[in-house]
Amino acid sequence: IKRIAVLTSGGDSSGMNPAIRAFARAAMLKGAEVFAIREGYNGLVNDSILPLNWGSVAGIISRGGTIIGTARSAEFRTREGRKKAAFNLIKNKINNLLVIGGDGSLTGANLLRSEWCSLLGELVNDGKISPDCLENYSTLSIAGIVGSIDNDMCGTDLTVGADTATRRILEAIDSILSTAVSHQRSFVIEVMGRNCGWLALVSGVATGADYILIPESPPEKGWEQHMADNLEKGRLSGRRCSLVIVSEGAIDSDGKPITSSYVRQFLEDKGHDARITILGHVQRGGTPTFLDRYIATIMGVESANYFYDTKEAQKEPVLIGMSGTDVIRSPLMECVKKTQSIATLIKEKRFNEVVDCRGG
Ligand code: F6P
Repeated sequence: IKRIAVLTSGGDSSGMNPAIRAFARAAMLKGAEVFAIREGYNGLVNDSILPLNWGSVAGIISRGGTIIGTARSAEFRTREGRKKAAFNLIKNKINNLLVIGGDGSLTGANLLRSEWCSLLGELVNDGKISPDCLENYSTLSIAGIVGSIDNDMCGTDLTVGADTATRRILEAIDSILSTAVSHQRSFVIEVMGRNCGWLALVSGVATGADYILIPESPPEKGWEQHMADNLEKGRLSGRRCSLVIVSEGAIDSDGKPITSSYVRQFLEDKGHDARITILGHVQRGGTPTFLDRYIATIMGVESANYFYDTKEAQKEPVLIGMSGTDVIRSPLMECVKKTQSIATLIKEKRFNEVVDCRGG
């Protein structure tokens, strides 16, 4: 009987619960014993590992967040922390792990996988586990599902939680626009996304924003006046409000952060009655949309399939993602590397290559 554990790590996202449910039930139907690791990698380091049954994942398909808790674990980033994690996995007879989280969390999973044999060797030398373990648990099989509102990961068209976050953003902006119209105001809305502008871009398109600022396409020098001119054109055509969306990671062509307060001040100086709304964590909350429940469910089922695919499971860790309407598997480390190289390209101001890398 396979023993498979699931953990959620990093920033939560709406859709993590449906993913846990689908994975746990699909794995149980295949005969697995399924475990939840509480509070992300902290639960692995501290041996907070609990068995799940059919009923323990009931009624969670419509709940936001993650019922098993999440954290950004500092201890797991150390080798000593990962050694404790390996020990606790062996203690619980588990060498199959599903990680639901962002690129940092998936990098952590891959690191544990790459150190697995040497960590086990050290644990044998320390007399903490028996030498048989080296053979019985020779491989750590890892599957990853990207749970993140940022939609910033290569290997999947959509990350779990991104659609719900855009829903929250749209609801908020629609509400703001009704008061903006009454007062003929200009609003600067700051959205999350870290160094990915996807949330800002798609919500700007869907709300008819006058100007959108994202990290991947820093505006040219003099952009402030260009923005003001755009807003002015809108006003001249009869628009009673203006809307600028700023991604929290937005930068100018020198790589300097563009803050929402800077944008607001500029507009104020141009005579606008301007206000800022920073949407913050409201974007991460609430019930998952249809799309997030759906992709989380099919990705959850596919990850359970992965652990039973004898050929695949022996190979490198996989990322379970979406390609159009299809659920796909890709080598986890390639996806992580490609995603991290985008962050580097942005830092090095090689913006054209970012677009090539993200596929347009
Ligand atoms: O990665 C998800 C995300 O919500 C980012 O968009 C944001 O920058 C960050 O997490 C916020 O993190 P925290 O919840 O730790 O403040």
